[in-house]
Amino acid sequence: MEKLLIRGGRSLRGRIAISGAKNAVLALAPATLLAPGSHRLLNVPHLTDVLTMMELLESLGCSCRLTGKELLIDTSTIHSFHAPDELVGRMRASFYVLGPLLARYGHAEVSLPGGCAFGPRPVDLHLEGLQQLGAQLTVRNRRVYARAERLRGTTIDLRFPSVGATGNLLMAAVLAEGETLIRNAAREPEIVQLGEYLCAMGASIEGLGSPVLRIRGVSHLHPATVEVIPDRIEAATFLIAAAATQGEVTLTQARSDHLHAILTKLQEVGCSIVTTHDTLTLRMETLPAPSTVTTAPYPGFPTDVQAQWTALMLRAPGVSRITDTIYLDRFKHIPELQRLGARIELHGNTAIVFGGHPLTGTTVVSSDLRASAALLIAGLIAEGETEVLGLHHIDRGYEAIEQKLQQLGADVQRVRVDD
Ligand code: EPZ
Repeated sequence: MEKLLIRGGRSLRGRIAISGAKNAVLALAPATLLAPGSHRLLNVPHLTDVLTMMELLESLGCSCRLTGKELLIDTSTIHSFHAPDELVGRMRASFYVLGPLLARYGHAEVSLPGGCAFGPRPVDLHLEGLQQLGAQLTVRNRRVYARAERLRGTTIDLRFPSVGATGNLLMAAVLAEGETLIRNAAREPEIVQLGEYLCAMGASIEGLGSPVLRIRGVSHLHPATVEVIPDRIEAATFLIAAAATQGEVTLTQARSDHLHAILTKLQEVGCSIVTTHDTLTLRMETLPAPSTVTTAPYPGFPTDVQAQWTALMLRAPGVSRITDTIYLDRFKHIPELQRLGARIELHGNTAIVFGGHPLTGTTVVSSDLRASAALLIAGLIAEGETEVLGLHHIDRGYEAIEQKLQQLGADVQRVRVDD
């Protein structure tokens, strides 16, 4: 067991490189199941979720090798179509194997997912869409048994632009007979990259990045290479940490075109931001102004940045409001922030932050990936020392987080809990 020790009060200054996007890799890796052979994923971050996905693919018979940032996946020898319950329970994105296994092999067995701790996270949109594509699904003992001779193209109207459902259905439709329309599809950059990768493998997809995807089924696909896009949520997290500590930070290998909603809000609260084609510099010389933020599907303000933004608003003198419309109970970071002295009231799915009051370091416990990031940011601005426990959460989605913070001048150490 490890923890982070953070001594607050320092401004972050310097430059760091943003790693490849976790949520892109977690969609691209299962897509390799659609075509036999050796696939190459470049710019892959070393994250526990990536290792879990590799373990999952290996349990199906693939061979995976991560050397530096290059992930080689050979899908020539698939021998199982049953995703182990323990892996699906550990990481919700494991559910992504359902669509490709069904499309290529005509059957799959995947348990209903677990993953992060916040609230019920159903997969009804995945299952309804697959049934519309002609799959026979039965759910028994919390496991989905799926069968399909050949999936047939159809029109799918998503009740909600679910990222996972769009990804699963896209991977199922590329080998289906005929044409599929997915309407109200997710527009996240990670889904756009998934579609681009499928096209590089020989699929026919139009409308990527728009709410309507048109897929013409093909008979087979071939392996391809893809370079993973930068992680926009990691980038947002470091920009917010720089703003909270009144620093000046440059991110390299960052895509400002994936961060529009966040950059707009950061400028609104007083940050100055300069971008080039692959760098982003944020400078903040004052305390942030209070703000009102409501999360929304891309290109709106991401739910994955909601907790980090709440930590920033602790610095903003006055009243701020943060509403999460995606996950109505993604607020487990609030009681821990309150232990640092934060004055926050939770009203349904809206956090009301009374900012501008000092925080005092203490021991706090992470509950999920992005809540951990919020606690880390709060530790950077609290007086004294803050201990953040539950690092296994943060290591799921942030590569070398303490090294990057140290590179920016933060006083942060990773130590063993029994030290
Ligand atoms: C993806 O999860 C991300 N994970 C999440 O990031 C992110 O928070 C989420 O999209 C929203 O942007 C990965 O990409 C691996 P959804 P996903 O399906 O696909 C409801 C992180 O921190 N819903 O868009 O599971 C669901 O309950 C993680 O990196 C249904 O009702 O998200 C939720 O309220 C956390 N039925 C909303 O839609 C369904 O069948 C968003 O879910 C599917 C989803």
